[in-house]
Amino acid sequence: MPVILAIESSCDETAASICRDGNILSNQVATQAIHRKFGGVVPELASRAHMQHIIPVVNAALKDAGVSLPDIDAVAFTRAPGLIGSLLVGSQFAKSLSLALDRPLIEVHHMQAHVLANLIPDANPQGIPTFPFLCLTVSGGHTQIVLAAGPNDMQVIGETLDDAAGEAFDKTAKLLGLPYPGGPLIDKFAAQGDATRFRFAEPRIEGLDFSFSGLKTSILYFLQKETAADPDFVEKNMADICASVQHTIISILLKKMKAAALRHGITDLCIAGGVSANSGLRRAFTEMCAYERWRAFIPKFEYCTDNAAMIAITGYYKFLANEFSDLSVTASARAGWS
Ligand code: KG4
Ligand code: ZN
Repeated sequence: MPVILAIESSCDETAASICRDGNILSNQVATQAIHRKFGGVVPELASRAHMQHIIPVVNAALKDAGVSLPDIDAVAFTRAPGLIGSLLVGSQFAKSLSLALDRPLIEVHHMQAHVLANLIPDANPQGIPTFPFLCLTVSGGHTQIVLAAGPNDMQVIGETLDDAAGEAFDKTAKLLGLPYPGGPLIDKFAAQGDATRFRFAEPRIEGLDFSFSGLKTSILYFLQKETAADPDFVEKNMADICASVQHTIISILLKKMKAAALRHGITDLCIAGGVSANSGLRRAFTEMCAYERWRAFIPKFEYCTDNAAMIAITGYYKFLANEFSDLSVTASARAGWS
């Protein structure tokens, strides 16, 4: 019955979670509002905010779980990838705690954790997927299709060659004059709009990889042309523009996911990452799976965006597999899967 304390600090969320035997007892997140006025995450400010938040967040997670430090069997933390200054705060904290408590340390890869969020027992009303399954991980920093054969046996079979899907949402929002992060606002406007009103070309990329930089450029040129003719074009057509862009991003994502499922003969499909909060993507993904008679899994929102519960569940499976790190382990901004 291992009790794991997990820490996530890869970007602009300071998070801590406790899990006992794979069940999440607490899941605390402190979001850093400071970045909003800069239109994106400022790494230096993120590191400082992590320093301020980490102890209160860990204390809140312990309190909420009804667990005290001596009850902890292992300390898990996000080792990679992310902003190095942010990762260093969480990793140094985890290493110090592991040393002080004399408990093992478990390094976790953030992208593996997004996939394994689907294994959290209360993530999905219809239960958890069975291996092998596919996961489309879509966030502000990543867009990947992962083939998961087991909790510690995963392969990235497709990924973005340039921008992430979340960046495509956020950069479009910026072009439309919307505040950061723009993804949720595009989602909101899109709900009132006509997705067939404007057409944007989809990239032609071989295999299971993605590209979103061309879409961003074509949206930029489209808006430049239309606002030259009518300076109020964006204001007048906000809902239709958002719906059309969102429709294009979803279509790019789901075509590849479908191709991956057919190629590998997989029938359990998941989505993870912040963009999986998008209501249009959730609907289209669920409809596609229903049509194909595949099972669709979308974790609860709190397990989709950056959180420490996903680090805790990954830590739990690594604990069971005896995969521990020694205290010389270092955070890495870019490391791939270990
Ligand atoms: O996973 P996440 O919280 O952090 C990263 O690791 O990046 O993902 C954040 C991303 C942002 O790009 C944000 O705009 C996007 O997820 N996002 C959405 C929605 N909610 C969050 N994009 C589209 N529709 C949403 N409802
Ligand atoms: Zn993430």
